[in-house]
Amino acid sequence: MHIHLLPLWFFIIQIIPVLGFTDYLLKTCAQSGFCNRHRFYEANIKESKNRYYSVDKSSIEYYKEENTHKYVFKASIIKTIPRPDVNDIKVELPFTLSFFEDLTSLRFTIDEIRTNRLTELLPDFLNTYRYNETWKWAFDSEFNLYNSELTYKESNWLSNDIITIFNEDESLKVELYTNSFLLKVYYDNKLSIVINEEQLLNIEHLRSKEENFQQLLPEESSFNMFGDNFEYSKADSLRFGPESVGLDFSFIGYKNVFGIPEHADSLRLKDTSKTEPYRLFNVDVFEYNVDSKMPTYGTIPLMIAANPTSSIGVFWVNAADTWVDINYKEDKISSHWISENGIVDVVLLFSKSVAGITEQFTTLTGKPQLPLLSAIGYHQCRWNYNDEADVLNVDSEMDKAHIPYDFIWLDIEYADSRQYFTWKPNSFATPKKMLKKLENLGRQLVVLLDPHLKVDYFASDKCIENGVAINDKNNKPYIGHCWPGKAIWIDALNPLGKKIWDGLVTVFVDKVKNLHMWNDMNEPSIFDGPETTAPKDLIHFGGWEHRSVHNIYGLSVHESTYESLKSLKSDRDQRPFLLTRAYYAGSQRSAAVWTGDNVANWDYLRISIPMVLTNNIVGFPFIGADVAGFSGNPEPELLVRWYQAGIWYPFFRAHAHIDSKRREPYLFDEPIKSIVRDLIVLRYALLPTLYTSFYNSYISGSPIMKPMFYEKPEFEEFYDVDDQFYIGDSGLLTKPVVAPEQTTVDMKFAPGIYYDYFTLDHFVIKGNSVIEKTIETPLEKSAVFIEGGHILTRKDRYRRSSQLTKYDAYTLLISPNLNGFANGILYVDDGISFEYQNGQYVVSNFTFQDNKITNKVIHSPDELAYDGNMSISKIIIPIGSGKVKYSNVATVKMNSNKIVVNVSISDDKKSIIINNPSLSIDTDWELIL
Ligand code: GLC
Repeated sequence: MHIHLLPLWFFIIQIIPVLGFTDYLLKTCAQSGFCNRHRFYEANIKESKNRYYSVDKSSIEYYKEENTHKYVFKASIIKTIPRPDVNDIKVELPFTLSFFEDLTSLRFTIDEIRTNRLTELLPDFLNTYRYNETWKWAFDSEFNLYNSELTYKESNWLSNDIITIFNEDESLKVELYTNSFLLKVYYDNKLSIVINEEQLLNIEHLRSKEENFQQLLPEESSFNMFGDNFEYSKADSLRFGPESVGLDFSFIGYKNVFGIPEHADSLRLKDTSKTEPYRLFNVDVFEYNVDSKMPTYGTIPLMIAANPTSSIGVFWVNAADTWVDINYKEDKISSHWISENGIVDVVLLFSKSVAGITEQFTTLTGKPQLPLLSAIGYHQCRWNYNDEADVLNVDSEMDKAHIPYDFIWLDIEYADSRQYFTWKPNSFATPKKMLKKLENLGRQLVVLLDPHLKVDYFASDKCIENGVAINDKNNKPYIGHCWPGKAIWIDALNPLGKKIWDGLVTVFVDKVKNLHMWNDMNEPSIFDGPETTAPKDLIHFGGWEHRSVHNIYGLSVHESTYESLKSLKSDRDQRPFLLTRAYYAGSQRSAAVWTGDNVANWDYLRISIPMVLTNNIVGFPFIGADVAGFSGNPEPELLVRWYQAGIWYPFFRAHAHIDSKRREPYLFDEPIKSIVRDLIVLRYALLPTLYTSFYNSYISGSPIMKPMFYEKPEFEEFYDVDDQFYIGDSGLLTKPVVAPEQTTVDMKFAPGIYYDYFTLDHFVIKGNSVIEKTIETPLEKSAVFIEGGHILTRKDRYRRSSQLTKYDAYTLLISPNLNGFANGILYVDDGISFEYQNGQYVVSNFTFQDNKITNKVIHSPDELAYDGNMSISKIIIPIGSGKVKYSNVATVKMNSNKIVVNVSISDDKKSIIINNPSLSIDTDWELIL
């Protein structure tokens, strides 16, 4: 092909990337038909006295459904379009309201009754309802949907046009104002959130182009209602015309909102009244802009308002292109949600604490998976390791340099002509042999598996034969461009599509134990598609336009891959490891995720921290950023600083673009190489602590990388801190250096005692308020502290991979607070199988109080099948608090035996050490100093 014949997308994708993100590929709100229209409406309706939405009182129904026993409150909202001299047009919008029994939560929906007259004009293969199934993908299948309870106080029924409804325990009271549709929700008798306070409810009802001129409200604009004038999406057929939904939520008395990933922006959400709104639309954004509200790869439409004593979550259950405006006001925060189509489906969650919101949200959408222990080790990736020899060479060089790692990765080039489910014949002639060699050292391999399948080979042929490819607007298989050239896309929303995918995955994996998957480009990324993704008028299973399901497509793909890997259980009894790039609420059940194509510069290191923190508070903690930047070549200082931050990412992977120089850590010059090696070794020593955080997360959804305000909500000063964080409940506290030549960082500390993790030096923060302190951070040292009051568990011996630590004993590091108290939990299981679900795990609770260490085993099965080492070989207690009394012996009481063990003082006199105390983590004992 001659250069001048190459299409524009070729240049955009292949050449321009080195220059940074190409903004003009994505719409701004002003360029997006429906976003533009809603902001226009907002500006006008605020000035206007007109009200178009009200509740038809005669339509109210309240009953218990016979088969589900669910209490349902139903009514019709009526949209009235005034017309001079003739009858007003009335559009019926069914409204439902219910509570979830086990949560402090309320759900409401608003749909539209569409007239046959108009839907009959649409092609038969199209589903003409508003899409109302996003919840089926987002909610955890185990969550009992039918247990909602609703009560109401008859005395208040319809007094002054207000209906008052309570949940079962009356912790929530809802007032529905019928005159102009308004919901006020009181949590514990306090007005907490008002819905439609700003009168921004606007449902663009179905109408034909011809009748539109009579059906527009005076405050509305008709911009791009039936056509799209944006350069790259002009071909959108917009068969339904305008069908967007918009609504506002005001958080009363709140000053901070968080959530709605994914954006490369601050943790605390910003006011958008003078900027673009935050956009939620999964897209491939190579070298995305930082400090920006532009959309990126994933969407979790949960916004959390938090203050020291209460918190609210708004979960907007809609998978279409969505924009969110935020406006901070003196006594409240209002947010305006706008989606291109689908129904309004909203879950409101209430709690005394932000943790209570994450917990309830993950009860609804599923707890984060408990990953393989090895998956929280270090991942070495690059686009690409070229052949088997390359893979095995990297593997052995890591060993030679004493750098632990668990996973090595193969990017697209392992596949023959980028045809996934195949191996490149010469380069990967004996993949099974290579995998076996890796397995012998306890190592895992990940291969990339994208949802686009090159045309004309067995996998794509199979999809087409079975009708499970995504179809174009004429209902024929859609063909677009991606890595392999011309490709089709699997429709994983189709149950048969999932079955076909399952067959392909199963045959390819062929029972190999240490082979795992990476679903990339599943936004989906389409090089010649509008905004580098799928045309919105493509057709999915069920006759749904892609527009309706866009943000759940990635979830459907990775969930399907996960299920296939899990179904191999009889051959490989292990938890699947799967990385996805696109995600939605619920993705945490089955995948890890990363922040996509960043750049090896300081801005991307800095922004990775709030990005990871945000996902952690909305229930998807297994996330990391490419260390040390995907594209470009990081200078040595950046490399070190990025590893110093990266060891705290829950998902810790080095990755590099094909055009970047090789940068496996053994290639670094000294002292960089040793500094980086020691950091990775530190990550490995702390795996027991990190794994315990993953367990906590699996139980309660709690963050692994945890924002300051989340750990210490009582301090207002922490609500906008997003460059410093805790690790789970461990007390580990760090602030990575994210700028060049920064040999100090200013950290904020709440009152208490803090121990330097590396030296065990301590300092005390007195008083009742947060204090800023300057910490020395020469290149080889990052600011890592343990807050007094915690006990953390390590495995100190260097091993090549996590599996090889199985027979190593534990070290307890006890960091007493100013009252001489400390506490910590340790979770242990085999790190591989699903047997923990049958009780095969141990949870121990260590406490230090009154100079006594106690272990109380909280859970242990009658017979533990796991044969890993359970003993404690060392206990370290820094004595800086002045509360630790000790002599040179201590007494151990275990199983009615008493033994005496030696206590020594460290050379630097900062801590006492008890070597080989003959204690184990799965037995109750006491050690009296
Ligand atoms: C995408 C991914 C990147 C990968 C590349 C090639 O850009 O985000 O991680 O290396 O595709 O597969």
